[in-house]
Amino acid sequence: MGDKNMSPKRAQGVVMLLMLMVFNVSGAFVGITIGTDMSKLPSATDIVSILQDKKIQHVRLLDSDHQMLTALANTGIEVMVGVPNDQLLRVGQSRSTAADWINKNVAAYLPATNITYIAVGNEVLTTIPNAALVLVPALQFLQSALLAANLNTQVKISSPHSMDMISKAFPPSTATFNSTWSSIMFQYLQFLNNTGSSFMLNAQPYYGYVKGQGVFPLEYALFRSLNPNSRIADPNTNLFYTNMFDAMIDATYNSIQAMNFTGIPILVTASGWPWLGGQNEKAANVDNALAYNSNLIHHVLNNSGTPSQPNNQSNTYIFELFNEDRQPGPVSEQNWGIMFPNATTVYSLSFEDVVTTIPESPALRGTFCVANSTAPHSALKHSLDWACGPGSANCSAVQPGQPCYKSDDIVAVASYVFNDYYHRTQGSGGTCNFNGTAMITSTDPSKIHFSL
Ligand SMILES: *[C@@H]1O[C@H](CO)[C@@H](O)[C@H](O)[C@H]1NC(C)=O
Ligand SMILES: *[C@@H]1O[C@H](CO)[C@@H](O)[C@H](O)[C@H]1NC(C)=O
Ligand SMILES: *[C@@H]1O[C@H](CO)[C@@H](O)[C@H](O)[C@H]1NC(C)=O
Ligand SMILES: *[C@@H]1O[C@H](CO)[C@@H](O)[C@H](O)[C@H]1NC(C)=O
Ligand SMILES: *[C@@H]1O[C@H](CO)[C@@H](O)[C@H](O)[C@H]1NC(C)=O
Ligand SMILES: *[C@@H]1O[C@H](CO)[C@@H](O)[C@H](O)[C@H]1NC(C)=O
Ligand SMILES: *[C@@H]1O[C@H](CO)[C@@H](O)[C@H](O)[C@H]1NC(C)=O
Ligand SMILES: *[C@@H]1O[C@H](CO)[C@@H](O)[C@H](O)[C@H]1NC(C)=O
Ligand SMILES: *[C@@H]1O[C@H](CO)[C@@H](O)[C@H](O)[C@H]1NC(C)=O
Ligand SMILES: *[C@@H]1O[C@H](CO)[C@@H](O)[C@H](O)[C@H]1NC(C)=O
Repeated sequence: MGDKNMSPKRAQGVVMLLMLMVFNVSGAFVGITIGTDMSKLPSATDIVSILQDKKIQHVRLLDSDHQMLTALANTGIEVMVGVPNDQLLRVGQSRSTAADWINKNVAAYLPATNITYIAVGNEVLTTIPNAALVLVPALQFLQSALLAANLNTQVKISSPHSMDMISKAFPPSTATFNSTWSSIMFQYLQFLNNTGSSFMLNAQPYYGYVKGQGVFPLEYALFRSLNPNSRIADPNTNLFYTNMFDAMIDATYNSIQAMNFTGIPILVTASGWPWLGGQNEKAANVDNALAYNSNLIHHVLNNSGTPSQPNNQSNTYIFELFNEDRQPGPVSEQNWGIMFPNATTVYSLSFEDVVTTIPESPALRGTFCVANSTAPHSALKHSLDWACGPGSANCSAVQPGQPCYKSDDIVAVASYVFNDYYHRTQGSGGTCNFNGTAMITSTDPSKIHFSL
C-alpha cells in the first residue's frame, strides 16, 4: 500500500507512490483516458504495465492504436476505442469505410482485447461543426457493421459531448441543449435509445470554474464543500449541489429529458484538472489537481449518484494518464496528466476509496496520531487541508460552530483530524506522517488539548 499520508507534493524531485486500485466490484468504475499527443511516449507494453501496476481496469484510447490494442490483449482491461475527429468524415460518408474501420480496429482484436465501447469523434458539434451532419450517419454505419459482424452486444457506440452543448447549465433543472443542434441531438439520442448505449459527456468543472469567473467557489469545483452554507441550491427543485460535477451531470440528464428521452445513462468520458498553468491560470496547480482527482474517484466509487438521480452513478474516465506536451493552447492544456511522458509520476494519486469503512484494528486501540506541536503552523495547515480534502478525514467536528473547533489552536484541530484519518485508513495503508507534521503517541490527545 502506498503512503497516502502526505501533503500534496510539488512535482519535482520527490519520490512518489501511485496506487490506483479501482476495485469497486458491482458499482460504478473509474477508468483513465490515454491521449498520446506527445513528443515521446512509453512503449505500448510499458503503458499496459503501468495500468496493471495501478490496477486500472478501464481505459479510454482516443484512437485505435494497434500496438496498444495488441498489448491490451488478455489483460482483462476493458477498452474504449475512438474514431478521431480527422477520420470522422470518411467513416460518416461511406458505409464500406465504416465497415472497414470496424474490421481493422475492433473485430481484428476481439475477443482477446476486451473492446466494449467506440467513442465516435470528440465534441464534434462544438469543435468541428462542419462535420455535424455526418455524426449520426457515422454512428449508424458503424452500428450496422457491428451487427453484421455479430458484435453489437459486445460493443456499444456513442459520441462524447462537451458541456458547451448546454447553453446555460445552472440551475440544472432548466438546462437544455443548444437549440442550434436540436435535430442532430434528437437523432443522436434516438440512436442511443435504440441501441441501449450511453450519452458520453466530457464533464470538466475546471472549465466551469474558470469561465464562471468567481461565480462558483473553488471548493464547489473541487468537491470540497465541507461547509453546509456553501452548498448551492437549484431553486426549482430545492435540490442541493455540493459539487459542480454532479450539477453538470444533472444538467445533462435534464437536457436529455427536455427532448423527451428518459433512461439513457450518462458516461463521463473525461474529467480531470490541470496541475500546471500559465501566469493567468492560477487554479491549475498540483494541490487542486490532486484534490479534484482524489475527490472525484472517491465520489464515483461511493456510488451515491447525483441529487436528481441518486440511484445512477456515472462511470467516469479520469483525464488523463499522460501530460500531452504537443497539445495546442495555454500551458494548462499540456498539463492534465498524472504522469510525465517518461512514466514518472507528477503527483501521487490513489484510486482507492480511502473512506471505505475498514474495521479499526485492535492494535490501534490506545494509539493516537497527533500533530507535531513544533512543526511550523504553515506546514500543519497544509497537512490539514490535505487530510480534510483528498485524505477524506471526517472534519465536520472541527468546522466553525462544532464542538472541536478552535480558531486559535491549529495543533489541537490538526491532532483531531490526523487521528481521524489514521484510524480510518491505517488498515488500508494510511500512515501517521503527514510530511513530518504528525507523530504517534499513546497519550489520548483529547485528554490534553480538548474534550471530545
Ligand atoms: C514537506 O516539508 C518540507 C520541510 O518543511 C517542505 O519543504 C516540503 O515542501 C513539504 N512537502 C510537502 C509535500 O508538503
Ligand atoms: C469484457 O468486459 C465486459 C464488461 O465488463 C465483461 O462482462 C466481460 O466478461 C469481459 N470479457 C472478457 C473476455 O474479459
Ligand atoms: C449555440 O450554438 C451556436 C453554434 O455553435 C452558437 O453560435 C450559439 O452562440 C450557441 N448559443 C448559445 C446560447 O450558447
Ligand atoms: C426509446 O426506446 C423505447 C423502446 O426501447 C421506445 O418505447 C421509446 O419510444 C423510445 N423513445 C423515443 C423518444 O424515441
Ligand atoms: C416533448 O413532449 C411534450 C409533451 O408531449 C411536447 O409538448 C414537446 O414538444 C416534446 N418536446 C420535444 C423536444 O419533442
Ligand atoms: C436510474 O435508475 C433507475 C433505477 O433505480 C432506472 O429505472 C432509471 O432508468 C435510471 N435512469 C437512468 C438515466 O439511467
Ligand atoms: C457515500 O454515500 C452515502 C450514501 O450512499 C452517503 O450517505 C455518504 O455521505 C457518502 N459518503 C461520502 C463521504 O460522500
Ligand atoms: C521525467 O520528466 C520530467 C518532466 O519533463 C522531468 O522533470 C523528470 O526529471 C524526468 N524523470 C526522469 C527519471 O527522467
Ligand atoms: C517535529 O517537527 C520538528 C520541526 O519541524 C522536527 O524537527 C521534528 O523532527 C518533528 N518530530 C517528529 C517526531 O516528526
Ligand atoms: C463525522 O463526524 C461527525 C461528528 O463527529 C459525526 O456525526 C458523523 O457521523 C461523522 N461522519 C462519518 C461519515 O463518519
